[in-house]
Amino acid sequence: MSLGFHNGEFIALDQKIIPIDERGHQFGDGVYELIKVYKGAPFMMREHLVRLEKSAKAIRLQLNYSIDQLEAIIADGLHRAGLAGQDAEVYIQSTRGIATRLHTFPNVEASTTMTFRPARVIPAELRERGVAITLAVDERWANCYIKSLNLLPNILAKQAAVDNGYYEAVFFRDGYITEGSSTNVYAVKDGTLYTPPATKRILHGITRHAVLRLARELNIPVVEEEFTPDFLSSGDEIFISSTTIEVLPVTTIEGQPVGNGQPGPITRRLYDAVIADATR
Ligand SMILES: Cc1ncc(COP(=O)(O)O)c(C=O)c1O
Repeated sequence: MSLGFHNGEFIALDQKIIPIDERGHQFGDGVYELIKVYKGAPFMMREHLVRLEKSAKAIRLQLNYSIDQLEAIIADGLHRAGLAGQDAEVYIQSTRGIATRLHTFPNVEASTTMTFRPARVIPAELRERGVAITLAVDERWANCYIKSLNLLPNILAKQAAVDNGYYEAVFFRDGYITEGSSTNVYAVKDGTLYTPPATKRILHGITRHAVLRLARELNIPVVEEEFTPDFLSSGDEIFISSTTIEVLPVTTIEGQPVGNGQPGPITRRLYDAVIADATR
């Protein structure tokens, strides 16, 4: 039920395949995507692959597959992994290839690997009770819209959060909320949905895109504007979104209850709308 892919070849996930001199391995010199598959149908696959191309372009990386080719490999991989018709996750990583370690770009083709696995299941209890978040200074670089392999600040913030009993760390920079370590973040106040704008400071989440589209369809007013940690804390509802967690309610921030301390109705409606959209 799990399978790997490396530049044209399907391989076992534990097959040793990446040489020491590989740019992703040595420099984090690459970009990635994670696509969720619902009953065999990849959700917003085009959007993910377009973002992969956009990230690659931003780091001056020419991918070794076109979007159409990547779509065909994904369909083939899901089938070969025995995941046709199942809930699954496809991870795609493209790097600047295999070459002797030098900071300058090598004159070699990009390298693309993928994994195909059954989807992780988010415990129902997290959806019913909501999760706890903490705030962390955003120490990342200026181009967080690029889905780059360099995730050290994200990993450190997430681990510190988990070590202290929180589910997610939400970053703030220059006094304004940006996003979570691997999620986008939203506040609901007086029936309006607020989320930070899609600038270079955040990843333009594919789930974020779906959430905002569905909110507008449901006539929920949407405001994409900077807001402070205090504004976030004063929300009637808070939630986070990503491909993996879809829409997940936040019921405490820094140990303080959000609104009445229960997952809110707008969060619930948006979660239901995302699932309905993904499983149409
Ligand atoms: C930093 C960051 N923000 C937001 C997201 C959510 O993006 P998406 O909805 O495309 O999964 C992710 C996902 O990995 C992320 O790493």
